[in-house]
Amino acid sequence: MDMDKLVSLCKRRGFLFQSSEIYGGLNGFWDYGPLGVELKRNIKEAWWQDMVRGHDELSTPAGAPEAYEMTGLDCTIIMHPQVWKVSGHYDLFCDMMVDCKATKKRYRYDQIKGRWAFRKDQVGTGKPPVFVTTVAEEFDADIERRALKYFNLRSKQADQLDLGELMSLPQGISAQHGYFESETYYDAEGKPALTDYSSDTPLNHVLAPEANEVGTLTEPREFNLMFKTIVGAMGTEEDAAFLRPETAQGIFVNFKNVLDSTRVKVPFGIAQIGKSFRNEITPRNFTFRSREFEQMEIEFFCHPNASRKWYEYWRDRRMKWYTDLGLAGERLIMREHAADELSHYSVGTADIEYAFPFLPEGEYGELEGIAHRGDFDLRSHMEGKLVKNAEGCLEVEMVPVEGKPDKLRPKHRGSGRDLTYRDEVTNEKFVPHVIEPSSGADRATLAFLCEAYYEDEQPDEKGEMQTRVVMRFHPRIAPIKAAVFPLVKKDGLPEIAQEIYRKLKAKFSAFYDEKGAVGRRYRRQDEAGTPYCITVDGQTLTDNTVTIRDRDTLEQWRVKVDEVVEEISKRVM
Ligand code: GAP
Repeated sequence: MDMDKLVSLCKRRGFLFQSSEIYGGLNGFWDYGPLGVELKRNIKEAWWQDMVRGHDELSTPAGAPEAYEMTGLDCTIIMHPQVWKVSGHYDLFCDMMVDCKATKKRYRYDQIKGRWAFRKDQVGTGKPPVFVTTVAEEFDADIERRALKYFNLRSKQADQLDLGELMSLPQGISAQHGYFESETYYDAEGKPALTDYSSDTPLNHVLAPEANEVGTLTEPREFNLMFKTIVGAMGTEEDAAFLRPETAQGIFVNFKNVLDSTRVKVPFGIAQIGKSFRNEITPRNFTFRSREFEQMEIEFFCHPNASRKWYEYWRDRRMKWYTDLGLAGERLIMREHAADELSHYSVGTADIEYAFPFLPEGEYGELEGIAHRGDFDLRSHMEGKLVKNAEGCLEVEMVPVEGKPDKLRPKHRGSGRDLTYRDEVTNEKFVPHVIEPSSGADRATLAFLCEAYYEDEQPDEKGEMQTRVVMRFHPRIAPIKAAVFPLVKKDGLPEIAQEIYRKLKAKFSAFYDEKGAVGRRYRRQDEAGTPYCITVDGQTLTDNTVTIRDRDTLEQWRVKVDEVVEEISKRVM
């Protein structure tokens, strides 16, 4: 699928617009248009219905160790600053970034890719190799094009170029992978022909993604991804607060409130849907990496001994949710993290990933992470910010007291509240373990948009074959469930069609259209992803039936006017 076609359809049909577009847009921020808002809302509602409201707490779902309860929360975006100190986001939620002094562009250090390159005929001349970089999606072609240009070669002289293996910038300039250790050409006398630059700063030999000269990138620096704001009128640093970078912490800090105000018992889950904010250094790929986005998160609290089984249950359950809504096939995968990628307290982490069309062939982008977080979060909010000690166990991070270097205090204090759980039956007291299925509503929306896009060839009114663009959304998430057309604007057909439209509209989103040829009206609904179109025609006047057309099969059948609502309802709900 061609991503450009999808992006243009999203704008043309009102799924997605760039935020503040009339002022030139704001990078990393997106608005959902009239169709997009319905689509995203349907996705969030399907998630809430399937995970929370529709959950049957009296039965054990397939694959679950036992029956469990689910409840919800809606917490604030700005929380007490201590929340982020204790959670680790204040100290650790950073990306490394580099700036280009020549182009004034900023990049995420690990997102720059490149290859060491040199001109073969310059071997022995003392000319150094150059790490030619790019952030373009077509990275192979871009690196070659830039290397040719840098070394003053034409494309037919490409064999004059020696290009090393593809590496990220951190790898490329590291001692293990960089050119210092790479194969070196030897001249006739057996001396290394490329100058040894190991005493030099490797960044001096990097051609930044959009620069014309080497050595324009700054040393990598830490950049905290949390947006800072000021609460109250004083405007001092003491009033600084942050926009939440995840919804999860609101759930942890309310754990005791939920226990005390409901009758939930472990195992149970708390779900939340809401906005999160991350000042991403390089927002890109449409809405995939935005600076303002929505998350759909569950924190599931269970007994430590049962946490592995619960982790496996949630991992499989969440994968099934996407496939049930139409993200099936090879484009959707589950990737279990290898043991050495896991935090020491975790029994597992899996990512549900989708082969977004803007990614290179064979690469997948994360839709959702399902993580076993142990007791890390609740313990942190009780005791203070935790770090791993020499034995690999978590303990409160301590720092010297100012002026008394031999006395230690916790770096970031916890709430001091008791966030343990007492089992009423066994009387056992423990800190529950947490399984966290954390997904992005915008990434899910984007994946459903990509998956839905489909083109086929259909004859138009004159019998000529035309490309038909159809968004094959699962009916549950389709922005409009049904469209109603009177075939012509006379003989009382519009009145009958409007009556049907009003009845449908009382139950779900429906659309009325009487303008233009009916074939064009069908095509507009195909592009919007409307699963069913209902047409009132001459026959309606004689037998009180209408046709229903299926968006995907193009099959048409007739039903009685007063059965239309039921017929559509059973197909879309
Ligand atoms: N509480 C765990 C957590 O926040 P995460 O992997 O950082 O984990 C979870 O985020 C999900 O949120 C991701 O899988 C993705 O779907 C979504 N997400 C994260 N950053 C995003 C961004 N910049 N733009 C859009 N969605 C994002």
